[in-house]
Amino acid sequence: MNGRQINILGIETSCDETAAAVVADGTIVKSSVVASQAKLHAKYGGVVPEIASRAHLENIYPVIAESLTNAKLTKADVAAIAVANQPGLAVALIVGVTAAKTLCLVWDKPLIAVNHLHAHLQSALLTEHELKLPAVALIVSGGHTCLYDCQNALELKLLGRCIDDAAGEAFDKVATILNLPYPGGPSIEKAAKTGNPCAVDFPRTLLGPDSLDFSFSGIKTAVLYHCRGQDMKGVNNVSSMNQKQIADIAASFQASVVDVLIEKTRRAIEKVGAKTVLLGGGVAANTALREALTKLCQSYVPAKMLLVAPKPYCTDNAVMVASLAYHKFKAGLFADLTLEPKASG
Ligand code: KG4
Ligand code: ZN
Repeated sequence: MNGRQINILGIETSCDETAAAVVADGTIVKSSVVASQAKLHAKYGGVVPEIASRAHLENIYPVIAESLTNAKLTKADVAAIAVANQPGLAVALIVGVTAAKTLCLVWDKPLIAVNHLHAHLQSALLTEHELKLPAVALIVSGGHTCLYDCQNALELKLLGRCIDDAAGEAFDKVATILNLPYPGGPSIEKAAKTGNPCAVDFPRTLLGPDSLDFSFSGIKTAVLYHCRGQDMKGVNNVSSMNQKQIADIAASFQASVVDVLIEKTRRAIEKVGAKTVLLGGGVAANTALREALTKLCQSYVPAKMLLVAPKPYCTDNAVMVASLAYHKFKAGLFADLTLEPKASG
């Protein structure tokens, strides 16, 4: 063991990133390796599970080896091995889970199972140790959009979730409609920079005055109708649109998603009397969302404390897995070698 530090090796394979990281004492990042498969899935406009699974299999060993080399550690320095075992694509999760279980068996290390969404939230806690309670957390990723009442890294109560498309999924699908490259989030954000967010009045689906759930499929369909006509019989107008028109649609779409996320977060703040707001997940990399949430938090007197995941740790990574696992390690929450992947969670 390296001094008194608790080094945890984290493994993440829930979607299309094969990642491994070593984090000491929950916050000291010793290495972070992410092998993105974005190029493999780009031509399909979304993640193809079988392709993801095969790529994880090819990448998992070199990625883990590189994370230990970069951290300048050997297996003797590793206190435990953590893996995200839910939620995600079952055929992708199983690669990380099997790798983690095998290493635990061969190296005689304890295994820690981590919920991928809770780990996203942990990315916002990497730098802040004292949380002013109550706290609400907004997690916005490709597969999920959730609001939590957060007591600490391990105690989370779900307040609301998406009932159809997640925010990131809507970004990816709208990018496909607009012929923008995959992954859609960064492409829409880039296109939106030169667009007018008020150009098209896309709907803001709020699901009733008290709801904390999310629905983004209506916004996505509205963009589709806007581009192809209500009857969907029209040609895809996008190919004949100029850059400014595309930028206006991207900016208007982004503004409607951000408005919904902000309104739901505002409701959650009011509901739990939150003093702190946390933001994590792939869509948390979006500057318009980060700015709007900052504005919301500053609109209160006193202002709400805002903890946002650093940009490199918004999209899938293993630092968040190893960091959350440290809290489970301290609490003695270990998994056994019968651990299975779970698609839902
Ligand atoms: O958390 P994540 O890496 O994977 C899942 O757990 O799903 O999130 C990926 C999602 C994708 O839908 C991607 O388009 C979106 O995050 N995303 C963004 C941005 N960067 C990534 N969405 C909006 N703006 C961004 N800058
Ligand atoms: Zn994720």
